[in-house]
Amino acid sequence: MSSTAAPGTVQHEQTGPFPPGARFAAAAVADAGRYEAAGADRLAYWAEQARGTLSWDTDFGEVLDWSDAPFAKWFVGGQLNAAYNCVDRHVEAGHGERAALLFEGEPGDSRRITYAELAEEVARAANAFESLGVSKGDRVAIYMPMIPETVISMLACARIGALHSVVFGGFSSDALRSRADDAEAKLIITADGSYRRGKPSLLKPNVDEALAEPGHTVEHVLVVRRNGEDVSFTEGRDLWWHDVVPDRSAEHAYAAHDSEHPLFILYTSGTTGKPKGILHTTGGYLTQTAVTARDSFDLRPETDVYWCTADVGWITGHSYLVYGPLANGATQVIYEGTPDTPHKGRLWEMVAKYGVTQLYTAPTLIRTCMKWGREIPEEYDLSSLRVLGTVGEAINPEAWLWFREVIGASSGPGRPPKDEPAPIVDTWWQTETGGHMIAPMPGVTHTKPGSAQKPVPGIDIGIVDEMGEPVGRGESGFLVIKQPWPAMLRGIWRDPERYRDTYWSRFGTDLYFAGDGARYDEDGDIWILGRVDDVMNVSGHRLSTTEIESSLVAHEQVAEAAVVGAKDATTGEAVVAFVILNAESEQADPEAMEAQLREHVRADIGPIAKPRNVLVVPELPKTRSGKIMRRLLKNVANGDDVGDASTLSDPSVMIQIAEDMRTKHAE
Ligand code: WTA
Repeated sequence: MSSTAAPGTVQHEQTGPFPPGARFAAAAVADAGRYEAAGADRLAYWAEQARGTLSWDTDFGEVLDWSDAPFAKWFVGGQLNAAYNCVDRHVEAGHGERAALLFEGEPGDSRRITYAELAEEVARAANAFESLGVSKGDRVAIYMPMIPETVISMLACARIGALHSVVFGGFSSDALRSRADDAEAKLIITADGSYRRGKPSLLKPNVDEALAEPGHTVEHVLVVRRNGEDVSFTEGRDLWWHDVVPDRSAEHAYAAHDSEHPLFILYTSGTTGKPKGILHTTGGYLTQTAVTARDSFDLRPETDVYWCTADVGWITGHSYLVYGPLANGATQVIYEGTPDTPHKGRLWEMVAKYGVTQLYTAPTLIRTCMKWGREIPEEYDLSSLRVLGTVGEAINPEAWLWFREVIGASSGPGRPPKDEPAPIVDTWWQTETGGHMIAPMPGVTHTKPGSAQKPVPGIDIGIVDEMGEPVGRGESGFLVIKQPWPAMLRGIWRDPERYRDTYWSRFGTDLYFAGDGARYDEDGDIWILGRVDDVMNVSGHRLSTTEIESSLVAHEQVAEAAVVGAKDATTGEAVVAFVILNAESEQADPEAMEAQLREHVRADIGPIAKPRNVLVVPELPKTRSGKIMRRLLKNVANGDDVGDASTLSDPSVMIQIAEDMRTKHAE
């Protein structure tokens, strides 16, 4: 297989396995019975979970209708409202005074929002959106910083039955426009700006730019005032949130929606240039996110303070910052800013300040903290932490062990370490899967540094070879999902063919092809090896090589471009681009061009896509049939031997490129 091992995924199976701590296990929310029940009857297990964790206005009949595979229907005929399940029912159950959101802004401002307050805010926002013409089935683009109004907006859409399409605030105006166009969004919700690294960072001007050209479907732009910066307003189109929302009624009669009513669209990078609008629906998605938020994190809503550091612009923010924790009635922290502002201890200071019990974050952030040094977290009282989670990419064992020892075992400054460090749950899943698919269960399963361990109860995972045949222990292959699952994507927005082709054609409609390589160790535990397609993983964010290549080629001085993901000690992978300039630009200063092209990609797609290196080259390595050999370029980008270049039409090309890379970008 063409698998590329995830950077740093060295196999350290000798470290661990770590059995669950005895005290933790004795009190754990979940027990091994979940695996047994799901193993005995998967559909009955999910039906029981759906009824047990959610409140349905109309009970469902059939659990799964797979007759139109690969288009699934879960909890057929059931009706429910996601916003009611995430907010109102907790108030009705007497938990109105419990904090739902503990917001901390980057400058240090904070807001505590109880479930009762959240219920009122969501109702007001739903009334306001309706007054702007939003109704069931409409699409609303949300281009926001990490502030409470973002969560309120998502829930207000869900309440109405309008689909939200959250666009990460770090994306460019072009990226926002293409997503708003594809979804035919009627309303965009945004903010004047946000705070990043101590400075205001504006969002509204990007919306103006996105809507500058006619031909879009957006009728209104609703703007939250976050930092009071001067932003321009278009008469008739733009409205301030504070003018429209606060004086609406705090009562909103909700309608129950069909279990399969679409909840949201979230765009993600695929192997082609055009992002895919991943479609999720209500009943199955909410069931799986609620169940996994509870079981993977041992969540106790009465006492816990949960914190997921992901941005709401990604699926992790949707499933484990909005829907999963709120469906459980949990209290959670939401933080606007960066981890090093105003100082590198910000995360740990917040853990201590709020008494955070669960911290769910990304390996890249852990590696960054490792680089900053353990002295920083050691200054803070981290004793409240009970469970640590990671997501986004494989976590290298060094980072895993550091996380366990420096964070999970800490009892606070100057005190001896805990005898039972907080368990680490490495969770493998995707935008498409909606919720956790492979993860240890704290207090139940053992853990191993670097392994995501085993499928969560009710999920059927396999690893297969090129022919779709299962591989054995000690072997690697392609990660597949063998049975439909409740939170699975229901399709790609308005592109059923692409849905089939991308996920259900590699091994037919029997096996969902995840795009990752994986391996079973000798115990049968799963190790994720990274993407096997043209998708890169930079700081846990998915980026498509093709999308960045298209952006480079769109630059007037570029004739051709090839992009690869190279290993990077902090971000996992880094974008490295090789470009050929067009004839008129051949005389240009290559270094100036390289800087200009990095900037071009940043402006075109967003800062996360900015290449670490751009190398102007005279030729790209191609096979005789004209295909760019990215594999060779990847070797060069990693500083490895070039590898087998025998199929190249001109093998001398690689020698030149490797030489240039060494002299110009030696790290
Ligand atoms: C990768 C993020 C290894 C993987 C939730 C997957 C991981 C892609 C892990 C999905 C993990 C995510 N170990 N790899 N624990 N979690 N990935 O859609 O390649 O942004 O296919 O969803 O991230 O990225 P997405």
